[in-house]
Amino acid sequence: MSASSEQVEGAADLDVRGPFTVVLRRSGTSRPVPADRSLLEVVEEVLPVPFTCREGTCGSCVSTVLEGVVDYRNTVLSPRAKAKGARIALCVDRSVTPELVLDL
Ligand code: FES
Repeated sequence: MSASSEQVEGAADLDVRGPFTVVLRRSGTSRPVPADRSLLEVVEEVLPVPFTCREGTCGSCVSTVLEGVVDYRNTVLSPRAKAKGARIALCVDRSVTPELVLDL
């Protein structure tokens, strides 16, 4: 194995765009979130979620995070809110951790 292929494998480990599992604590269910689908799309299969923009700008889909680390991509939450990690925009944000637990 060459040094360059090791670097590529290491980069893959840090790829936060990959799939993860969302646990909807109050709904008592979990769902896989594939890399090519948004968290909002997956959650909408379980329960209705308010949304307007689907671009991370309006805030209507923002929900509460109970466990896990969010990969922030939205522009609606403040840097302070993102540092706390307790809120997530379902339409664009993803998960750094393999599992994300939401208060839904
Ligand atoms: S729908 Fe607007 S921020 Fe998610």
